[in-house]
Amino acid sequence: MNKSNTGNASPKIICISSGKGGVGKTSIAINLAAALAKNSRKVLLIDGDLGLANVDVALGINVRHTIRETVEQGRDPLSLLIEIMPGFHVLPASSGVPEMANLSHEEQVFLANTLEDTIDQFDYVLVDSAAGIGESVLWFNDWSQENIIILSPDPTSMTDAYALIKILHSRYGKKRFNLVINSVKSKKEGREVFEGIKAVLKRFLKIEPDFLGSLPVDNHVVKAIRNQKPFLITYPDSRASIAITEIADRI
Ligand SMILES: Nc1ncnc2c1ncn2[C@@H]1O[C@H](COP(=O)(O)OP(=O)(O)OP(=O)(O)O)[C@@H](O)[C@H]1O
Ligand SMILES: [Mg+2]
Repeated sequence: MNKSNTGNASPKIICISSGKGGVGKTSIAINLAAALAKNSRKVLLIDGDLGLANVDVALGINVRHTIRETVEQGRDPLSLLIEIMPGFHVLPASSGVPEMANLSHEEQVFLANTLEDTIDQFDYVLVDSAAGIGESVLWFNDWSQENIIILSPDPTSMTDAYALIKILHSRYGKKRFNLVINSVKSKKEGREVFEGIKAVLKRFLKIEPDFLGSLPVDNHVVKAIRNQKPFLITYPDSRASIAITEIADRI
């Protein structure tokens, strides 16, 4: 990624999406946040799955107040933050609240303005978005300066990632996409999957994506979700941790 943002500059806002569900957005978002925080960066992770929260479950946090209170009551987002480790805070979402997944235009503008007024203290704001191409996914992607798209070697994950990129390009004029290939058997496979989708994006959309790296299939990722802790913290020497650290270094 080519914008660097540390110190007192305003934060770099990065949205993590995939099109297809279950490809590893939440695991990657949490561990990327942990890796950046380990590098002394201040990171805010927003649970962008506004109607079906993910981050709180994956981190085992007990959430009482959520971003819904900002949207509905104008509550200061800073008062909702939960500290996971030094430098890593989460802004939680609510679960089972369908209207939160379909914010009106006015609510979107209000949320964006409120967040922008309160995120200055962070170096990075990561958004763990919902699956699919619903309004909130598109909106968070439009709001963000950088867009990370996760896909796996599964062909349906590639077609869904392509569909998401196509909409973000045609509707919002987005041109820069950072791809992460998750659940690969080898770095070689990760590179091949990237080259495959890159060829399609170049041919049909004239877009040249950037390769942020790949993550291996690693049982530590599954175990960490069950233990409700970042794998980077519980299994720092795992292959997934080494891969996520490399990706964080490229951001
Ligand atoms: N590299 C990996 N190796 C092994 N398992 C993985 C890997 N990445 C993700 N998983 C597993 O896949 C499952 C889905 O991951 P995760 O919840 O992060 O995906 P998601 O894209 O956020 O899903 P959703 O679309 O439902 O929000 C989890 O059980 C996770 O442990
Ligand atoms: Mg998720």
